[in-house]
Amino acid sequence: HITGTKPRTSWPRKALLILGFLFALAAIALVAMAVSQNKPLPKNIKYGIVLDAGSSHTNLYVYEWPAEKENDTGVVHQVEVCKVEGLGISGYSHDTEKAGLSLQHCMKRAQEVVPEQHHRETPVYLGATAGMRLLSLQNRSIADRVLSAVEKTLRSSPFNFQGARVISGQEEGAYGWITINYLLGNFKQPGWLNFLPHLRSSRGTSGALDLGGASTQITFVPDQEPIESQENSLHFRLYGKNYNVYTHSFLCYGKDQALRLKLASDLQSTQNGSLLDPCFHPGYLRIMNISDLYTNPCIANGEQQLPFTQLHLQGNGDYQRCRMTIQKIFNTSSCPYSSCSFNGIFLPPLQGEFGVSLDARRRALTQSRHRGSA
Ligand SMILES: *[C@@H]1O[C@H](CO)[C@@H](O)[C@H](O)[C@H]1NC(C)=O
Ligand SMILES: *[C@@H]1O[C@H](CO)[C@@H](O)[C@H](O)[C@H]1NC(C)=O
Ligand SMILES: *[C@@H]1O[C@H](CO)[C@@H](O)[C@H](O)[C@H]1NC(C)=O
Ligand SMILES: *[C@@H]1O[C@H](CO)[C@@H](O)[C@H](O)[C@H]1NC(C)=O
Repeated sequence: HITGTKPRTSWPRKALLILGFLFALAAIALVAMAVSQNKPLPKNIKYGIVLDAGSSHTNLYVYEWPAEKENDTGVVHQVEVCKVEGLGISGYSHDTEKAGLSLQHCMKRAQEVVPEQHHRETPVYLGATAGMRLLSLQNRSIADRVLSAVEKTLRSSPFNFQGARVISGQEEGAYGWITINYLLGNFKQPGWLNFLPHLRSSRGTSGALDLGGASTQITFVPDQEPIESQENSLHFRLYGKNYNVYTHSFLCYGKDQALRLKLASDLQSTQNGSLLDPCFHPGYLRIMNISDLYTNPCIANGEQQLPFTQLHLQGNGDYQRCRMTIQKIFNTSSCPYSSCSFNGIFLPPLQGEFGVSLDARRRALTQSRHRGSA
């Protein structure tokens, strides 16, 4: 839903806390598990499986929790992470069956981790994020085929298949925020405080910044009310407390896609396709096909007029100039609200501390080869 391109880059500086890897869909697990918890089970432990299908890679998580909720609160533990080899599922647009096959190894691993007598009632979900959002924009039928291939693999496992779908940017922002605050223990209340609602609200939450490969989310509880744009406003009731949350997902501003935006912008000022790029270190050399750069909806004004077909990129490591070239991809020239981040997107004043998750693999431009030397 990003329109225009505007840049007041008040990119949050308050990132005080680095959580490293965010188990981005832990919150899906929480919610999903809460739902499936009503079914009776012989044993006291339940399991759930979540596949987090990002733009550059997929992770499978296995969770377990006690069958009886404590005080209406499911307490979930992660017992296994399996990193799927190869590309993110959106990377299999040329061979969609492989998107499903790629998951088989981790599904086998899940069968080892979850005791066999629990297989049939253990739910399995797959949530795909911005890589698949972009692929859907680019070619809906291919995106659907990728999801079908994935579904086929999940259905053929002994687990209870619950769905495979592309989650919205709002959902992704919401899950990131819930995950961070869950991990920080910000939702836990001593039981007796539940009778004193005014005291409960004194405990703050942390904002969430989530840098992915194809999109970036910012989510926090603002001081300023109301939230000026409806699509940036979320309402939750969690553990008996209400939260009004601001969120935005910047499609195309994950690490990999933002680099594409930057290169496309830099290309406008080269004559022959040679680019001395201050954002890569000296000695870095990469040749890219221009057509690879323009194969997705993030870069709207196509390659048509460029008189060359390849980009020769050479690093020259200059932080200040790198910063300048990157700022060009943030358009801050207009803001229809009282304040904006960039591209005309509403942003209320930042509030509180932020937890940051960097989920993007250190890999850019997934399909291009590069030759580099450190
Ligand atoms: C920035 O946004 C404005 C308004 O949407 C637009 O007219 C302008 O062309 C944009 N500038 C750039 C550099 O994209
Ligand atoms: C989507 O991909 C299919 C298969 O490659 C192709 O036949 C179709 O024309 C594409 N649709 C669009 C809108 O590009
Ligand atoms: C549940 O509530 C009771 C009192 O209401 C409290 O003693 C107990 O510690 C709570 N359990 C958890 C896990 O918060
Ligand atoms: C560029 O495209 C050509 C022909 O389509 C292909 O052979 C070559 O491997 C590509 N180069 C890169 C760096 O992707």
